[in-house]
This record gives sequence, structure tokens and C-alpha cells, in this order.
Amino acid sequence: MDYLVLVNPFNKCPDLVFEIVDTNSRYAKRMCEKKTLEAFKKLQVFALEKGYDIEIESAFRSIEHQEKVFNDCAFKKGLEYTKKYVASPGYSEHHTGLALDICLYKDGKFIIEHDLPNDFILFLKENIAKFGFILRYPKGKEVITGYNYEPWHIRYVGEAAKEIMDKNITLEEYLNKTNAPQN
Ligand code: DAL
Ligand code: ZN
Repeated sequence: MDYLVLVNPFNKCPDLVFEIVDTNSRYAKRMCEKKTLEAFKKLQVFALEKGYDIEIESAFRSIEHQEKVFNDCAFKKGLEYTKKYVASPGYSEHHTGLALDICLYKDGKFIIEHDLPNDFILFLKENIAKFGFILRYPKGKEVITGYNYEPWHIRYVGEAAKEIMDKNITLEEYLNKTNAPQN
């Protein structure tokens, strides 16, 4: 099993053999890869100790699920916006089960995506690598990743996480596969 599998606009998600399990997310019925869930559970306990009640907003997505996410976003926000935030079906890291969109449970409700507070975003950035996760779409790396800054989208890579986060690089740079067309 390749926890460093690269899925981006230029690399379609391959057929994978990861074990997908139920996350028991309080947000919605969500599945993800088994080791990713184990790592998330540890991150969740650690975050709670620091005062952040985190939950999984989105995780494994089938092609059909990604199609729905893409179409719903395009309907609400338009195609140009959608292409900056949502992968085309078949090209989403969410197909691997290794990607998690993290949300925060506070005062009886879930805070998601653009509404996440800065202190929490900083907390994620500083701590996720200890649990094998990276921030997959950092600010300033849009040309390499193909997507806008998404502080809520973390990706399980295992051991490599510390080096990637310490060096402030992307998975593409770590793997030396920055093959995005330059324009
Ligand atoms: N939001 C990421 C890019 C996805 O849709 O896979
Ligand atoms: Zn995501």
C-alpha cells in the first residue's frame, strides 16, 4: 500500500487496495482508510486536550460522490470557483480514503471550511505532522497543487509528514513530481 500515492489534476487516482472503514463521524456518515482513521483518532484526542473538538467533515468519496460535490459547488458558486476548490471526478485525493476535511465542533454546531478560525488553522499546521498528516493545499503553492489554499484538507502520508511540513513543501515537491503545466 502506497501512503505516498500522488493524486492531483495531472495524476488520476489509481485503483487502490486500501481498507476503507467507518469513521463514526458526528458530522455525517463518513468512511476513510484504516490507518488514516487511527491517526485521526490520536489527533482528535490531542486536539481536545488543547481545546479543539475536531471532527471529520469529508473523507473517502466515490467517483459519484465527487461528481455530486463538483456539480453542487458549480451550481452554487460557478465553474471558475469550483475548479479552484473541487477536483474533477477521478482526480480527487478523496478517492484514496487518505484525505480528510477537518471541521470544528463548537457551541453546538460544526464550523467548516472558510469559517474555521485562524488560531485553529495554526494549530493544525503546527501539530498534524506528529500524527502523519500534511496540509495538502498550502497558501502560495497553488500553481504546484492546482488548488486554492484549503487549510481544512489534510492528507495522511505517514512518516514523510514531518519532513514535508518542516520544509513547508507540497507532496508534489517531496516526490519531485511538480509537473503542472506552466502558463
Ligand atoms: N478539494 C479537493 C481539491 C478535492 O475536491 O479533492
Ligand atoms: Zn478535501
